[in-house]
Amino acid sequence: MKIVGVVCSPRLGGNTEILVKEALSSAKELGSNTQLITLSGKKIKPCDHCGACYVTGNCSIEDDMQDIYPHLLSADGIIIGSPVYFWSVTGQAKAFMDRTYALRYPTYRLEGKVGGAIAVASKRGQVQTLALINTFYLGQRMIPIHLGVDGRASKKSEIIEDIQAMTAADHLGKNMVKLITTLTS
Ligand SMILES: Cc1cc2nc3c(=O)[nH]c(=O)nc-3n(C[C@H](O)[C@H](O)[C@H](O)COP(=O)(O)O)c2cc1C
Repeated sequence: MKIVGVVCSPRLGGNTEILVKEALSSAKELGSNTQLITLSGKKIKPCDHCGACYVTGNCSIEDDMQDIYPHLLSADGIIIGSPVYFWSVTGQAKAFMDRTYALRYPTYRLEGKVGGAIAVASKRGQVQTLALINTFYLGQRMIPIHLGVDGRASKKSEIIEDIQAMTAADHLGKNMVKLITTLTS
């Protein structure tokens, strides 16, 4: 079993990264292989709707997303974590999600994988952001495990004081392992 966590914050070591790492370490405790992918510093261009993927099943844009595709395809579960930027996901998260469009061809290649969502805001917007991530999962015929983890923090690494969010991230990782085990046994 493999669970991949994708951190969509531009801040390395930020609040989102801490929560995604917490979920992954809990998944690891229950026996899953895990992998952390941080989008910070990576070059991921927006989808240009060139249509090449309809025909080839591959995205024609040559950038850092090409290294990420195999990890998504080999995962049983994917966790997307994003800070809240203006009541939404970050631009990095949106570009990443849009670029998975190619994985719908020739068939929905992420279908049946379990999705977990994490959102952190200094004040508000977590629920909308979690809903966007979960809607993305549904669009990919994935299985969102539940609404997800909402954290509240502003300064870098302040999230460790949000005990509720840290506990929820721990539960997310463990529950994903349990659900994947049920689905694959
Ligand atoms: C461009 C931008 C937009 C933001 N928009 C919101 C917002 O709509 N609501 C909110 O409560 N916090 C907002 N924030 C604060 C971040 O969500 C918050 O600092 C978060 O902890 C950052 O997570 P990170 O450490 O993982 O990068 C915004 C921050 C930036 C830089």
